Amino acid sequence: MPVDTATAVDQYFSIPLDHLAPQTVVSFDLYLRHGSGEPVLYRAANMEFGQEHQLRLAESGVVELFVHRGQAEAYREYRREAGGEAEPGPTADESELVEILQDSGTPLARRCQTLLGVSHEVIEVALADLGSPGLPDRVRRVSEATVRFLAAEPEAFRSLVRLVSTNAQLRAHLANTSLYAIELGRLADYGDMDQLARLGRAALVHDVGKVDLPETLLRREGSLNDLEYAEMMSHTELGLSRLVEAGWTDELCLEVCTQHHERCDCSGWPRGLAGEQLSLAVRIVGIADTFDTLTTGQGPGRGLTGYQALWKMKRERPGQYDPHLLDHFVRGLLDSQRR
Ligand SMILES: [Fe+2]
Ligand SMILES: [Fe+2]
Repeated sequence: MPVDTATAVDQYFSIPLDHLAPQTVVSFDLYLRHGSGEPVLYRAANMEFGQEHQLRLAESGVVELFVHRGQAEAYREYRREAGGEAEPGPTADESELVEILQDSGTPLARRCQTLLGVSHEVIEVALADLGSPGLPDRVRRVSEATVRFLAAEPEAFRSLVRLVSTNAQLRAHLANTSLYAIELGRLADYGDMDQLARLGRAALVHDVGKVDLPETLLRREGSLNDLEYAEMMSHTELGLSRLVEAGWTDELCLEVCTQHHERCDCSGWPRGLAGEQLSLAVRIVGIADTFDTLTTGQGPGRGLTGYQALWKMKRERPGQYDPHLLDHFVRGLLDSQRR
């Protein structure tokens, strides 16, 4: 019966030669592959791999070896012991999840945020590598912690559902704003690829301070009273604190985070800066941010079509946005509709 080479090869995964540390006992079989054929056994498991073996392979032009998928766990264990790249392990929040969720001294919203944060981390690991060591236990622990939390806190589910929806909206807004900012930067000759990437990164975190605002405020669809408006405005300072605390030193990120609500006609906030005081990056993100808010946001004056939003920015808010940039943006959007 003919051997299905493609299927047989699929049973193996490749590892770089330098993943094998000299003078270590390799706890899995090593295979070599010649041409497009099926891998053949090179050294059986539990034999020492010496420097001479590594040199001989390197001299023969071998850059990779193969391991049978059935021995993937042994390979991972070997890599960990050899000091190779660590698999992403549980964070402190994950290790103490049950205790954190039970701590009634911590506000419910913060505990909900921790639970969602840990769930997302574990899911990310699962999506990247279902065979990650300890993953089944980590998934089970998160599920058990969730079960206990929902049973102990009658308001937890309602709070979690609101948070899920708010987080999703904020994530989408940040991603959209970054996309618009990069395209507008490209059309306006903002700079080279690196500069555009820095601009996109700054736009991606411009509203990160909203994570610290109560979700009831973020989900309000009606107009805000003075107190609520002041609280909403605090997201630029909250964002700056978050970025600094997390070690983000890129001046552009800090500047965009604190100034993206400033406007060219001094009508913006928090400082009412004048147009000439606003950097090109701030003016670009201001347009991208407003456009996405008008077209995707909820509540009065939101949920507009692209044309309605541009009309509003050009005609109803003249002077707020850099007119040359706005023209570039209009042309870019029109162009994208035509194609
Ligand atoms: Fe903002
Ligand atoms: Fe924003």
